[in-house]
Parts: sequence; C-alpha cells; structure tokens
Amino acid sequence: MTDSSTALYCLIGDPVSGSLSPEIHTAAYAAMGLNATYLAFRVTSEALSAAIGGLRVLAKGFNVTIPHKTRVALMMDELTHEASLIGAVNAVAVREGSLVGHNTDALAASDVLEALGARGGAATIVGAGGAAKSIVYALWRKGFSEVRVLDRTPERAEALASGAKAVYGLNAVGAGLTRSSLLDAVSSSNLLVNATPLGMYGGELEVPEEALHGGLAVMDLAYTRGETGLIRLARSRGLRAADGLEFLVIQAAHSIEFWTGMRPPVDVMRRAALEAISGHARQGRG
Ligand SMILES: NC(=O)c1ccc[n+]([C@@H]2O[C@H](COP(=O)([O-])OP(=O)(O)OC[C@H]3O[C@@H](n4cnc5c(N)ncnc54)[C@H](OP(=O)(O)O)[C@@H]3O)[C@@H](O)[C@H]2O)c1
Repeated sequence: MTDSSTALYCLIGDPVSGSLSPEIHTAAYAAMGLNATYLAFRVTSEALSAAIGGLRVLAKGFNVTIPHKTRVALMMDELTHEASLIGAVNAVAVREGSLVGHNTDALAASDVLEALGARGGAATIVGAGGAAKSIVYALWRKGFSEVRVLDRTPERAEALASGAKAVYGLNAVGAGLTRSSLLDAVSSSNLLVNATPLGMYGGELEVPEEALHGGLAVMDLAYTRGETGLIRLARSRGLRAADGLEFLVIQAAHSIEFWTGMRPPVDVMRRAALEAISGHARQGRG
C-alpha cells in the first residue's frame, strides 16, 4: 500500500524504459515489509542537476545509470571508498539532506567473481566504459594481477588500462577489439568479462571458440531473455559462467542494503527479475 509515509527510491538515466529495476526492487521491499516504492525516471543530461536537487529533498535513495554515473559522482557531498577510486556512482543514499555516492556495480562484480571461484590471475575485459571501470576495481580486490582491456575504440582501452596501472598497480594493457586480439587475450586469461551491450540488443560478442579453454570463467554484464550468445557458448563448453541478470540482482541487493542497512532476499529478487524480463519481452520492451 502506498500512503503519505511511503519512502521513495528510484532510478535516473536516459534511457530507462527497458529497466527491470522497478520490478526487482518492488518485490524486495514487499518481501522485507518496507513501506517503499521504486520508480524509473528518464532524466536527460540537461535536466540532471535539477533532478538531483529534487531527489535530495524527496527521495531516500536512488540509482544512477547511463549516461550519468560519472557526472553524478562530482555532485555528491560524500563518496564511499569504492566510488571515489572508480570515479563513478550508481547508488546514492540521501542522509539528512546529504548525498552519499556509492558504487554497487563494483560490489556486485566482487560477489560474482567470488561465486565463479575467480581469484587472481589474468583477466580480459571487453569494453572500456563505466561498467568496465567497476570491474577493474573488483579484479584488484580479488587479487588479479594482469588485465587486458579490449575496446572497439583502442584509445579508450588504453586509457582504462593506464588508469588500472596508476590507481591499482595492475599490469594492464589496452588494445582494439579484433578477432586476433580476443584470441590472444582470452587464451591466456582465466577470466573473460563482457562489459559492452553486445548480446542485449542484437549483435553478439564473437569469441573465437579456440580461445575457450577449460580454466576460463565468463562474466557477462549483458542480459537478455534466455541467454546471451556468450553465456550459451560458455555453458555449452562446461565453463563457469555468470550472466548479466545475476549481476543486476546482486547490484540491486547491495543498493538496498546501502540505503536501509538490511539485507534483502536475493532469491525473491532473482524471481522478480526473471518474471520481469519475460513480461518485457512479451510487451516488446527491452
Ligand atoms: N547487468 C548489470 O547490472 C549491468 C550493470 C552495469 C552495466 N551493464 C551493461 O554493461 C554495458 C556497459 O555499460 P557501461 O555503463 O560501461 O556503458 P558505457 O559507459 O556506455 O560503455 C559502453 C562500452 O561498450 C562498448 N560498446 C558499445 N556498443 C558496442 C558495440 N556495438 N560493439 C562493441 N562495443 C560496444 C563501448 O565502446 P566504445 O568505447 O567504442 O564506445 C564502451 O566500451 C551496458 O550494456 C550495460 O547495460 C549491466
């Protein structure tokens, strides 16, 4: 039931129309007995400052998605350790009018790596955007020493690799995304992470099959109804693999814990995510 004491949580980004977060959060709040609601607001770059000003007085917390994660980090009163190292914020707590920025993508990545048994060694990240930055943090936390970043824009891959060297002391290199760079990097890695939208909206990350060796674990941030091509291929080869829906749910669970101090029921959230993605697919949204 919604009433005059219902707490507001929300997502801001552009676009947000395919987001599963309202269904995932609402299911968690109901199971936790919280009088709270979660909405998704499309906020353009021009409207970002006004939206943050409004949420400072109206909301208890909010998530931030593409394309605002980096700009929002600069608008916070306080940053958690993770958010300040990464330079991006995807969860904000409003505490007595003060904005505290956090990065729960990084915490989700650490949890997923732990569940995959991926600790230490060499990792290949495809993509060099905001999510890839959170992955680099998690790799550092999990004891990885070598990181290969591949991006269709080689300069972005090189920039992320330089940051990984400078901030975390990782042995990192960046290069363009080609069949041969993927083959070289993945063959000598024990973890492959897809941090691009490939697999979500048509178009797949095409990993040469000969690169998929038995010691490789795969983490895909992209998700779709069913499995992305990468996850399907990895599982068909018997590799340990975690999909983007699991990442989304764990990230949401960390956001709720950051806002409320309570651990939400992850199984309920997983079920809600699966139902939501099927519902969106039926309605042709996302
Ligand atoms: N499951 C989750 O909870 C979760 C959480 C965070 C992010 N994600 C997903 O992870 C992806 C990346 O997010 P982000 O925040 O890092 O976005 P971002 O900052 O916009 O970066 C996007 C990255 O993907 C690359 N890319 C985009 N389209 C591509 C294509 N067609 N082929 C090859 N590379 C392409 C970009 O390459 P350029 O550098 O060349 O532009 C860039 O490296 C998104 O799909 C997002 O939905 C999922």
